[in-house]
Amino acid sequence: MEAALAAKAARRPSAKQKPVLVLNGPNLNMLGKRQPEIYGRETLADVERGCRSEAVRLGLAIEFFQSNHEGALVDRIQAAREQNAAIVINAGAYTHTSVALLDALNAAELPVIEVHLSNIYKREAFRHHSYISPAAVGVIAGLGSQGYLLALQALARHLVR
Ligand code: DQA
Repeated sequence: MEAALAAKAARRPSAKQKPVLVLNGPNLNMLGKRQPEIYGRETLADVERGCRSEAVRLGLAIEFFQSNHEGALVDRIQAAREQNAAIVINAGAYTHTSVALLDALNAAELPVIEVHLSNIYKREAFRHHSYISPAAVGVIAGLGSQGYLLALQALARHLVR
């Protein structure tokens, strides 16, 4: 019984632990409607629900943010330096274009996991290069929304190290 209570307490987000930021870039607000043969039928709200229930299971607090605007993503990453413990990012098309996001992630000095719903290496050549990967602890691509859950699992381990 005591072990079960201890396990439950261990899963509760600690008051000291800042939330993990789950950041989504341009067009990810269109999930569910947008090219479902590539990105699936789940909406971003479904992805958020899945992340929230996984976070509870892992004892992590999380915050979700989506923007179609590069500058808004840079602003949120800058704020994360003080407000968040780590970042899960699907930068959408900015992955393949944005030195500004790379600079912001480097300046944040937080553990970052890069996620893509689709396998970007199986697609057009311009998607094979990511500007932001050098700032990431790891990259998960091609596993659909499960990638976000795996990223949270990886961070739960990484943050207790
Ligand atoms: C994406 C892949 C990108 O190439 C694309 O521009 C996106 C979504 C993915 O999740 O598979 O918007 O990041």
